[in-house]
Amino acid sequence: VHISAGELLREEMSRPESDYGALISKHIKNGTIVPVAITCSLLEKTMKNHANTIKESNHGDEVRGGKFLIDGFPRNYDNLQGWQKQMSDKTCVNFILFFDCPQDICIKRCLKRGKGAMKRTDDNEESLKKRLITYANDTLPIIQHYEKLNLVRKIDATPSPELVFQQVRKLFES
Ligand code: C5P
Ligand code: MG
Repeated sequence: VHISAGELLREEMSRPESDYGALISKHIKNGTIVPVAITCSLLEKTMKNHANTIKESNHGDEVRGGKFLIDGFPRNYDNLQGWQKQMSDKTCVNFILFFDCPQDICIKRCLKRGKGAMKRTDDNEESLKKRLITYANDTLPIIQHYEKLNLVRKIDATPSPELVFQQVRKLFES
C-alpha cells in the first residue's frame, strides 16, 4: 500500500475542521518540515485503516505483515525520532527507496507540475529554493543515517517514469 506523507498533510490542511491547517500550510509553502507528531499520527491512522480493511476481508483474522511504501518520510531528524518513538515496536523498516536525481531536473519537473492540473502551493521557484535547502540540510543526513545501516536502495530517477518504474519493480522483485 502506497502512502504519501505529503499527500496526507495536504488532505489534512484542506479539512476545514483541522486544527493544523494553517500550520501545515505555512510549512508547505516554506518547504520546511511539519512537526512529526502531526505527520506520524496521520501515517499511523492510515496504516491502521488499511490493516482493518484487510482484517475484515480476512473474516476478522489478525493481520501481520501488511506492507507499506511510505513516500516522503522521514524527512528530517524530528521525523526519524518521532517514527522510532511511536512506530518502531509496531513496524519493521525493510529498506529505504532513494530516488536519485540532479537538482536541475527536479526543478524542471516541479515547475512543469506547477503549470498542470495539480495545484500545489510549493511548485513554484520561491518555494522550490527553500525545499532544496531543507533537503540538503535536513533530509540528506537521514539518507546517510540509513546508508550506514545498509538499508538504502538507490534508483536513478533521471530517465522517464516508465524506466524509473521498471527499476523500482526489479528491486521489489529481488
Ligand atoms: O513529499 P512532498 O513533496 O509531497 O512534500 C511536500 C511538503 O510537505 C514538504 O516540502 C513539507 O513541507 C511537507 N512534508 C513534511 N513532512 C513530511 C513530508 C512532507 O512536512 N514527512
Ligand atoms: Mg510526494
